[in-house]
Amino acid sequence: MHVMNIIAAHNLACPIDNLELVKQENHFRCANGHCFDIARQGYVNLLPVQHKKSKNPGDSKAMVQARTRFLDAGFYQPIAQQLSDIIYQQLSCISAQSHCVFDAGCGEGYYLQQVIAAAGKRDDDTPVAFAAMDISKPAIIDASKRSRQVSWIVGTNSQPPFLPQSVDLIFCVFGFQSFTGFKKVLKPGGKLILVEPGSKHLQELRAIIYAEPSAEKPMQQADSEKDYSLIDTQTQQFEIHLNSNEQIRDLLSMTPHLFRASSKGKACIENMDSLSLSTDIIFSVFEYNPTAS
Ligand SMILES: C[S@@+](CC[C@H](N)C(=O)[O-])C[C@H]1O[C@@H](n2cnc3c(N)ncnc32)[C@H](O)[C@@H]1O
Repeated sequence: MHVMNIIAAHNLACPIDNLELVKQENHFRCANGHCFDIARQGYVNLLPVQHKKSKNPGDSKAMVQARTRFLDAGFYQPIAQQLSDIIYQQLSCISAQSHCVFDAGCGEGYYLQQVIAAAGKRDDDTPVAFAAMDISKPAIIDASKRSRQVSWIVGTNSQPPFLPQSVDLIFCVFGFQSFTGFKKVLKPGGKLILVEPGSKHLQELRAIIYAEPSAEKPMQQADSEKDYSLIDTQTQQFEIHLNSNEQIRDLLSMTPHLFRASSKGKACIENMDSLSLSTDIIFSVFEYNPTAS
């Protein structure tokens, strides 16, 4: 078993002019003098006001806390396991002096923590830098508590604050993927892993909260995205059993279903103490190979 050599990410870029950010004591600075403080919790906010569409973008503190309770209870551990296996298998195909792995839309950091914990199964010694970003500040504040070995960033997937061609692998779990944003930072030959709900994901919950439940539609846009080729697709299905009203409400609160559910559906959830659910997950692996334009 290998002990992973985790290194700091040295490829952060200024969100204003894209110049390299250099770490100095408790801040990052670019050659033009733009300066970004490293917060007490260890993260850096690289989301300038001009990139924000609202005052507090992304998931709220309450959503973040619901997700932490749900994920830390282990319900989605099989997803983290399969994701880790795919990540390390893909990294082993990328030859480089070091690897940079970026969790885009990391939420409160559960999946990246699990991926790092699974590193013992790797069979190569290439040092790895881990970076993770979310547009939600409350999410990143909580994520920072999960590991000091990760570069935690507040920022947006549409403009990831990394130097061009500096990231080997991006993964995005139930998140806001941006094929266009990711292109700006992936190395040629780099990998993008999307984890998305399949058509049967949480169908029992959807049957309760919607008058007419529609199937989950994976938000894949890759067909329209030249420069990416789909190189692998894996699926995963398993059952979960929720045994308290809090667990059911937490699951609802951490998904976009919270905003779309009918009031009748929400009232029904209030009276439930147990619920068995099917999960249906799709893992899509893309390789980025820019075509000359
Ligand atoms: C459904 S959550 C998934 C979080 C995490 N990947 C997980 O599965 O636990 C979607 C996340 O995307 C974040 N988000 C929304 N828009 C974003 C953007 N433009 N850039 C980065 N993150 C974004 C939200 O704040 C939220 O944490």
